[in-house]
Amino acid sequence: MTATAFGFSLHGRDGAARTGEITMPRGTIRTPAFMPVGTAATVKAMYADQVRDLGADVVLGNTYHLMLRPGAERMARLGGLHAFMQWNGPILTDSGGFQVMSLSALRKIDEDGVTFRSHIDGTAYEMSPERSIEIQGLLGSDIQMQLDECVRLPAERTEIEKAMHLSLRWAERCRVAFGEQLGKAMFGIVQGGDLPDLRVESARALADLDLKGYAIGGLAVGEPQAVMFAMIEATAPHLPEGKPRYLMGVGTPDDILGAVARGIDMFDCVMPTRAGRHGLAYTRHGRVNLRNARWAEAKEPLDEASTCPAARDYSRAYLHHLVRSNEILGMMLLTWNNLAYYQDLMAGARAAIRDGRYADYCAETREGWARAER
Ligand code: GUN
Repeated sequence: MTATAFGFSLHGRDGAARTGEITMPRGTIRTPAFMPVGTAATVKAMYADQVRDLGADVVLGNTYHLMLRPGAERMARLGGLHAFMQWNGPILTDSGGFQVMSLSALRKIDEDGVTFRSHIDGTAYEMSPERSIEIQGLLGSDIQMQLDECVRLPAERTEIEKAMHLSLRWAERCRVAFGEQLGKAMFGIVQGGDLPDLRVESARALADLDLKGYAIGGLAVGEPQAVMFAMIEATAPHLPEGKPRYLMGVGTPDDILGAVARGIDMFDCVMPTRAGRHGLAYTRHGRVNLRNARWAEAKEPLDEASTCPAARDYSRAYLHHLVRSNEILGMMLLTWNNLAYYQDLMAGARAAIRDGRYADYCAETREGWARAER
């Protein structure tokens, strides 16, 4: 591993859409990028090599899950998350606050951080902004996220504003705790709910901290897609052009196409992996529910033109059978198919932006979905 600095270069633009590369010691991330979610040191139902072969340059890990099990200090003694899960590319870790609020019991948030009880065994934990950064360091994360507070929508202005200001103070503390680390990065997270003026205030204040990258958080939390797009439009112009922008926890293929058009470079979402474990396949022809009896005798594959064996080589009837029988292979094949679809969608977006035909790419892709037999 050479001591490359963390870098981001833009290679093409089409309207507000951008394509480029994040360079890091562990590898290059081609943007716009989709990061498969590997919450508990595994992209569920996938081998790490398969994830890499689909064209994923980076995966996401979760501070919250890994600090509970196997534990941050234990992970460090075992050589870090990359060696542990056999993924040698870059890893981005979320900071934990978001998962604490959605998963843990008896959680409490105050100026100094979050206190909560594990959803696994009830053990009490405290996590300050500094401890979140320390844990992400012990895991060996390449791109670390600040601790933040995300408010579920709809919410009152006072609540959204309070969480946004707290997140800004935590961004500053995380920046200090992270310090300077060659080849690694700490990203800030814009909050501000569905209120454009708060989004602008958050983005500007974070931009002043001169971080290596910026995430937009607090979206896809119950608001309509139009609100999410409006918040991206309000925020993006106040983030530095030359830094990567990451939309957290988004989304459907359609959300991603729309967010790329508005200047987003990075995404993560459980959708392709979770849907795959529930019998749903993403394809060029839209979403297919393999549980549906209509596929019981369907000899055709999900997509005969795909380069992914899961999409190309197995009949829908077989996939239907596996899903209905609750077979492990059903989950594996559908996860494989779905991640292949998401990575192909991103590769297509990157090529289209480079060629100045991103709007056409979106229109053609959406037309394909509209032809779906659901
Ligand atoms: N994942 C999805 N949304 C968010 C958010 O607002 N904050 C964090 N830390 N993670 C997220």
